[in-house]
Amino acid sequence: MTSFYPALRPLLFQLDAETAHAIALQALRAVQHTPVLLRILTRMFAFEDARLHTEVCGLRFRNPVGIAAGYDKNAVCVPGLAALGAGHVEVGTLTPLAQRGNARPRVFRLAQDAALINRLGFPNAGMAAVLPRLAAQRARGLRAPLGINIGKGRDTPLELALEDYSTLLQQVHPFADYIAINISSPNTPGLRTLQSGAALAPLLGALQLLRQQHCPRLPLFVKIAPDLSPTQLDELLDAALTNKIDGVIATNTTTARPHLRSPAAGAEGGLSGVPLQPASNAVIRHIRQHSGSKLTIIGVGGIDCATAALEKLRAGANLLQVYTGLVYQGPGLLHAINRGLVQTLAQCGARSLAELVAV
Ligand SMILES: Cc1cc2nc3c(=O)[nH]c(=O)nc-3n(C[C@H](O)[C@H](O)[C@H](O)COP(=O)(O)O)c2cc1C
Repeated sequence: MTSFYPALRPLLFQLDAETAHAIALQALRAVQHTPVLLRILTRMFAFEDARLHTEVCGLRFRNPVGIAAGYDKNAVCVPGLAALGAGHVEVGTLTPLAQRGNARPRVFRLAQDAALINRLGFPNAGMAAVLPRLAAQRARGLRAPLGINIGKGRDTPLELALEDYSTLLQQVHPFADYIAINISSPNTPGLRTLQSGAALAPLLGALQLLRQQHCPRLPLFVKIAPDLSPTQLDELLDAALTNKIDGVIATNTTTARPHLRSPAAGAEGGLSGVPLQPASNAVIRHIRQHSGSKLTIIGVGGIDCATAALEKLRAGANLLQVYTGLVYQGPGLLHAINRGLVQTLAQCGARSLAELVAV
């Protein structure tokens, strides 16, 4: 089923990381337009077991493992990714206007570390171009819940960030199963300052009010960095709780450089993949300890196997996401994680993920 990727990977790895990613998306996009191919893809890749079914924030997930933001920035492959077995797909980051992002090269493989460094800077086609695609996908029906990740445009001054987030929320909410408020990318200057201080509570408060007016049932998540101090994190969690945010996506990439062996380790940007695991898990643990069951947690950062997935669930995550693991392990990773989780469920005699986490 998944055996083609070890043969394909060396070829893809000869290409610039961003080019290889674009080719993978193009291939998936071509396949997803033919319903019979989409069904074949599902049969080949998707792993189905009722014990993995999870309900979070009123949404039903076939399994806990979704696709992290940034993988399908312009929502071109949502049906294809769902057919590969993703339990949910988060598209974006979308900004109000189209933008090119930083100069290339801007994604670097750290193969010895199973990691990436990226400084993309939210290249995306912009809200107006992506909305019709989202509408069409909704009309056709989706196999998995769809999250839409929104962010401030690069040229929007920080003081006007709320306008960008408000515009995006009002435009995209009819097509989303949840919204991810991204205030943690390290590649949009100043964005991370929205995570603390005077800007945070008004931003979350205003978006919560808009949600109440336009889409009261739509879950709102905040995506955070792994680089916050414990005090900043507590401040953020308090603001999230006060403003009725449903959950936290932990975490985005890190600007820290834990011990790395790859030549590209010094590249500027956000680090993702296996070296991010400890920091991301620590943030998840902190959120759960601080907030009990009041916040849903989507755990992301370095998941490359079922063991890593289980560790995040045991740290307190309700759902999971992957990005860098897909680059190194291929699309069979989703199947492998879910199969591994079911094997552990069987070994522990647990009937659900919630029971497994409690064991
Ligand atoms: C190339 C690349 C692009 C990304 N783009 C975004 C993005 O646009 N928005 C966002 O919220 N996160 C983005 N991320 C962060 C991922 O969603 C995820 O939080 C992070 O990579 C950690 O997960 P991983 O170790 O499984 O990759 C990006 C990550 C990578 C590697």
